[in-house]
Amino acid sequence: MKLRWLGHSAFELISNNGLNILVDPFIQANPACPLNVNDVHPDVICITHGHADHYGDTIEIARNNPNAVVISNYEISIHLQRNGINAIGINCGAEIAIGDVSIRMLEARHSSSLDFEIDLPYAGSPGSFLFNFENGQKVFHAGDTGLFSDMKFVIGEVYRPDVALLPIGNIFTMNPAEAAIAAEWINPQVVIPMHYNSFPSIRQDPEEFSKLVSEKSSECKTLIPKVMETLEF
Ligand code: NI
Ligand code: MN
Repeated sequence: MKLRWLGHSAFELISNNGLNILVDPFIQANPACPLNVNDVHPDVICITHGHADHYGDTIEIARNNPNAVVISNYEISIHLQRNGINAIGINCGAEIAIGDVSIRMLEARHSSSLDFEIDLPYAGSPGSFLFNFENGQKVFHAGDTGLFSDMKFVIGEVYRPDVALLPIGNIFTMNPAEAAIAAEWINPQVVIPMHYNSFPSIRQDPEEFSKLVSEKSSECKTLIPKVMETLEF
């Protein structure tokens, strides 16, 4: 599979058979992302929670790509369906197969609302995603989250991802030291930091995160992609 970081928590995952999965499609208003909404052509859009820096351009991208399906929590899927979008709602612990990838929603410790609407509508529970590719490779996208013990007992020991994408920005999520503990608990082969340096309030040094990870776990390698860089696994 291939993985391309689009800045912040936006990632494009492409299966070996070409299924294009866009996670947290914060494109147009993302200061870190050089792309336009018309530059992405997903088959699947996955949204971890309702906040604008994750929900992003979902509606516009889904309308531009009418064959795409959106996977989100149940509440966000209802909101999208009312806007005419092809959305499937799942919930924590559930798995859905799309093409050659199965997608499971797991826990995140955060909040979720449609914060771009004036009355701040409820948008279900925040989540994370585990992508299980046809060759058995597993990628975990943590969404926005604080540190919690089931990163070890559920995500690490039960689901065992090969690659973990973890937020390090602080303020809204874990900081680099907490994310290094998360890396130790989840114990993937590769960890990739996200949700940092897109805004001044989440400025962090990813090399510091890498150093903390290497002190805790000799088996876990940190990769720090540049925005728009593609990594192949
Ligand atoms: Ni958030
Ligand atoms: Mn966020």
